[in-house]
Amino acid sequence: MRSPATLSDIVTSFLDVVHDRLLADRRGDVADYIPELADAAPDKFGIALCGLNGRVYESGDTHIPFTIQSVSKAFVYSLALDDIGMNAVHNRVGAEPSGEAFNSVKLESSTGRPPNPMVNAGAIVTTSLVNGSSPEHRFERILTRLSAFAGRDLAIDESVFTSERVSGDRNRALAYLMRSAGSLSADVNETLDVYFRQCSVLVTSRDLAVMGATLGNGGVNPITGRRVTSAETCQHVMTIMATCGMYDYAGEWLLRAGLPAKSGVAGGLVAASPGEFGLGLYSPRLDHSGASVRAVVAAQQLARRFGLHIL
Ligand code: DON
Repeated sequence: MRSPATLSDIVTSFLDVVHDRLLADRRGDVADYIPELADAAPDKFGIALCGLNGRVYESGDTHIPFTIQSVSKAFVYSLALDDIGMNAVHNRVGAEPSGEAFNSVKLESSTGRPPNPMVNAGAIVTTSLVNGSSPEHRFERILTRLSAFAGRDLAIDESVFTSERVSGDRNRALAYLMRSAGSLSADVNETLDVYFRQCSVLVTSRDLAVMGATLGNGGVNPITGRRVTSAETCQHVMTIMATCGMYDYAGEWLLRAGLPAKSGVAGGLVAASPGEFGLGLYSPRLDHSGASVRAVVAAQQLARRFGLHIL
């Protein structure tokens, strides 16, 4: 007689089902506007889920490192909130979905603020608001925060950093525009160096699952047991992820997946299920909004299967 399937068997086998089913999906292209990203193996695919008890379920390429890119924005936002408080952060950056692409040049006409901390413009301002006595110190604090969320010491990919810096004219233009509008008061090149570095931090989909679980767990990393940030900050971060994390796909994403999430152009995606678990996904082929095609579909299937919609 077969022994009854445990919850962990059910979760693992469903991750495998979703993973195997989506391997045939080759829609989308790898990002190439940052030359180093174009070298990614397009068909890698990893799905990881971390429960709030610290148990991690994995399927596929969950140990392949890739650069965190815009997924970093949610976690750096947590640091800015903790450093200077929600009102001071949002004096400089809005909290409204933009309905525009991640690299849009649209600023709020009445205030000159970028629309939210998840689009590039808003993330550049958010990075500039992190406390630090120098750009190096500011980045060190960001790396420490990202590492605490992941539960291990993270490092950066220097060649992606150099490539971002060389090809970063649009972000530079955004930063100068925001300086002229009064929303960015820090030095443009120093701020962008920190921002490009934060985007170049290497993670795996397993790391993203743990980072998402830390948010879903009210700021305590379920693997290390350490408090990274407050439950209140996690609530603010997940709110902005839910409304703005997927850029111009944010509304449809929330409709279909119902989870706070953040995408990155290297193909990473983090989603947090409050009080339940964190999801980390990786596959480099992207859709029109700069999110991984397979990660989006897989997260939606998982959310539906496990009834995770927050509403
Ligand atoms: O600012 C950039 O262009 C990148 N370093 C990050 C962009 C990104 O990941 C957008 N998200 N999908």
